[in-house]
Amino acid sequence: MRPEARARDLLNRRQPGHSLEQAFYTDADLYDLDLERIFYRDWLYAMPACSLPKPGSYVTHRVGAYSLIVVRGQDGVIRTFHNTCRHRGSILCKGASGHVPKLVCPYHQWTYELNGKLLWARDMGPDFDASKHGLKEVHCRELAGLVYICLAQQAPDFDDFAERAAPYLAPHDLSNAKIAHQSTIIEEGNWKLVWENNRECYHCGGNHPSLCRTFPEDPAVSGIEGGATPAHLMAHFSRCEDAGLPSRFHLSQTGQYRLARMPLKVGAKSYTMSGDIAVRRWLGRVPFADAGSLLKFHYPTTWNHFLPDHAITFRVTPIGPQQTEVQTTWLVNKDAVEGVDYDLKTLTEVWEATNDEDRRVVEDNQRGINSPAYEPGPYSPIQESGVRQFVDWYCDTLAGRLDPIRVAAE
Ligand code: FES
Ligand SMILES: [Fe+2]
Repeated sequence: MRPEARARDLLNRRQPGHSLEQAFYTDADLYDLDLERIFYRDWLYAMPACSLPKPGSYVTHRVGAYSLIVVRGQDGVIRTFHNTCRHRGSILCKGASGHVPKLVCPYHQWTYELNGKLLWARDMGPDFDASKHGLKEVHCRELAGLVYICLAQQAPDFDDFAERAAPYLAPHDLSNAKIAHQSTIIEEGNWKLVWENNRECYHCGGNHPSLCRTFPEDPAVSGIEGGATPAHLMAHFSRCEDAGLPSRFHLSQTGQYRLARMPLKVGAKSYTMSGDIAVRRWLGRVPFADAGSLLKFHYPTTWNHFLPDHAITFRVTPIGPQQTEVQTTWLVNKDAVEGVDYDLKTLTEVWEATNDEDRRVVEDNQRGINSPAYEPGPYSPIQESGVRQFVDWYCDTLAGRLDPIRVAAE
């Protein structure tokens, strides 16, 4: 059976409220379908804009089969191009990041402007039209200091998300951020297992001793709101909103993104072992230390935490059917000085540990699913509403992008 028909068949017989069938986590053809129908079509979080501090700064990124260059132009605008030369296709930028005046192909030195225009190509004859050989551009948007890209020919709407998210993000002032630390880890698990694990805190008590010092094991905080907002959350939202911080829970209509400023444990201010603030010179304009964490997720690539003193972004990139890259970036005020305003270990140790613990549980989850004895199991209605919401979003999104005519003919 062709992968598309198989996916349709598996989605049709799915048990709601249960984990997915094995093939969704293991099968190479279904993995390719995830890339084609989801990662090559949706808006994807790429990096914080401060990764590209000045004109000529570039960072390369790979999404499935596509190699990409994200670069800041002379005009200050961030653009994304396919990292493949318009001559005979060589990779243009081989490094992970750097700074260049122009983009020069290492093969025959075709030279492109930072805006993708072909500037120079040696001995191409009188009929050669340089204007037809600019770099191929990828949709790219900057939202409050976060760079999103989309590989589709026609990108889906970004404005709804941008308009909703901008007021929540504005007080965190990411335009004045710098990267204090970045970690990139590979988890030996399907990308959906990385997300499922992220979307619940049922596992936190048993696995995250450091995070649990500050992050509440409260399903109302970690899950997806169903019904009335509990009084303690309403009180937190109101206090923050009265101080000018948009905070109320907002889940998009399709379920692709969620915004909510959630409280940490009583007395906790930031994700440190002590619960104290990690950075003395704060990033942004949050007026009090116990405002909690603005939790933002946007499927399929990012979840973020925005705290009064710093921010952390996470980027999920599938590498293979059972392999996923998770890149974590700690952002601080650009004027904060390491060793004076913050200690790097204090800033990063909770999430460094938490990421490693999450890697382990995801890998254990994948290994167990690989057994022929695995069968989909039920989600906790109290603790795993977020997992259910993610899996429903995934199944609905994929189902809506399977071609009904081609499937019917198979
Ligand atoms: S392949 Fe790039 S210049 Fe020839
Ligand atoms: Fe976790």
